Amino acid sequence: MNHMLEFVCFVLVYFTTKTMSTTNITQFFPQIQGNLTLVTWAHAVNNQSYLKSVLADDNVMMIEADISIGKITNSDAEIPIMTHPPAKTSDLSLEDFLKQVDESNLNANNTEKTVKGVKLDFKSIEAFIASVTYIENASKKNFPLWINADILSGPGRAVIKPVNSTQFLSIAKIHFPDIVLSLGWTTMNVSGGYTNDNVKAIIEVINLNKITNIITFPVRASLTAHSSQQMKMLLEEFRNSTLTIWSSPGDTVDIEGLRNVIFDIGVDRIFVDVPDDLKEKLHLDKPVNSRTTLTKEVQC
Ligand SMILES: *[C@@H]1O[C@H](CO)[C@@H](O)[C@H](O)[C@H]1NC(C)=O
Ligand SMILES: *[C@@H]1O[C@H](CO)[C@@H](O)[C@H](O)[C@H]1NC(C)=O
Ligand SMILES: *[C@@H]1O[C@H](CO)[C@@H](O)[C@H](O)[C@H]1NC(C)=O
Ligand SMILES: *[C@@H]1O[C@H](CO)[C@@H](O)[C@H](O)[C@H]1NC(C)=O
Ligand SMILES: *[C@@H]1O[C@H](CO)[C@@H](O)[C@H](O)[C@H]1NC(C)=O
Ligand SMILES: *[C@@H]1O[C@H](CO)[C@@H](O)[C@H](O)[C@H]1NC(C)=O
Ligand SMILES: *[C@@H]1O[C@H](CO)[C@@H](O)[C@H](O)[C@H]1NC(C)=O
Ligand SMILES: *[C@@H]1O[C@H](CO)[C@@H](O)[C@H](O)[C@H]1NC(C)=O
Repeated sequence: MNHMLEFVCFVLVYFTTKTMSTTNITQFFPQIQGNLTLVTWAHAVNNQSYLKSVLADDNVMMIEADISIGKITNSDAEIPIMTHPPAKTSDLSLEDFLKQVDESNLNANNTEKTVKGVKLDFKSIEAFIASVTYIENASKKNFPLWINADILSGPGRAVIKPVNSTQFLSIAKIHFPDIVLSLGWTTMNVSGGYTNDNVKAIIEVINLNKITNIITFPVRASLTAHSSQQMKMLLEEFRNSTLTIWSSPGDTVDIEGLRNVIFDIGVDRIFVDVPDDLKEKLHLDKPVNSRTTLTKEVQC
């Protein structure tokens, strides 16, 4: 019996390493054994010096960065650059960013270093449209590539307008049917949580555009803590989807509420991309209830 299990595990691990699925993070990073909260993140990697240090950092698995249209230092051309609004300049273009990640990953593969994935956060539809060729190019490489946009208005009256959902989804569907879409709402630091209407609206727009990509929903920690039912509704609608919990420094987060949501849904469906101090407070090693054991086959 034990030998049989070992064999099954061997086949699974061999198979998953061999195929190197870039859309399925559990397969791409077998070391996390299906526990998505173990994925580590670097945030706002929007300049050359930070990118360099992140690429050299073996503790980082996913690189998150923001894309807007703007100018590179000493140039007049308006192109997709790595920057967070309201800034409109950067010393790093999207093209350069992706090239450096790709080269670093190729080198990493020859050593024991971590091959890193990328999450690109698009701040406008113009930036996304101007980036299509770069994303297409990068999507053929062997690393996870997520594209993120806040496509609907969520809790609070955010100053930033959502990225046009119809345009974002229709372009994604045509050009990137195989990469992970990260689809969220613009939010403000308000009390309360995501509403049923927020969830219904995103379900509707995804279905209307006949999206078949694997989806992750970026959700704000402070709001998620009060949205257990809504999060479950969302994940039940899209069986292959996950949540990516993020937080803004200074947000007040109901820790027990958030722990309940995380352990109710399970660490196999939730990425936790929050500041270190918040992650520590969540005590992910101390589950609330029994919905925490992962399925057998991913525990090899
Ligand atoms: C580069 O980005 C990091 C992280 O966003 C930031 O802390 C740092 O100040 C930035 N450096 C420059 C030169 O802009
Ligand atoms: C495509 O990727 C390769 C390797 O990273 C890079 O050299 C090339 O410049 C990229 N082309 C575009 C259009 O991004
Ligand atoms: C790493 O090498 C393996 C085997 O040679 C290959 O299948 C895989 O695509 C490579 N991964 C990257 C990120 O280049
Ligand atoms: C989004 O884009 C579509 C197609 O271009 C357009 O018809 C629609 O009015 C836009 N929606 C918003 C909210 O701007
Ligand atoms: C989930 O993903 C698998 C493969 O990744 C696919 O075969 C299946 O159809 C997907 N299921 C749904 C409900 O999208
Ligand atoms: C990802 O891979 C794991 C382990 O092989 C599997 O359990 C899970 O269903 C896959 N997820 C998707 C979305 O295909
Ligand atoms: C968010 O709201 C809470 C409660 O109103 C407040 O204490 C906190 O400072 C706010 N955080 C930010 C980043 O604005
Ligand atoms: C999942 O990972 C967290 C760290 O992010 C760890 O504390 C926890 O014990 C792990 N849980 C399981 C079930 O592997």
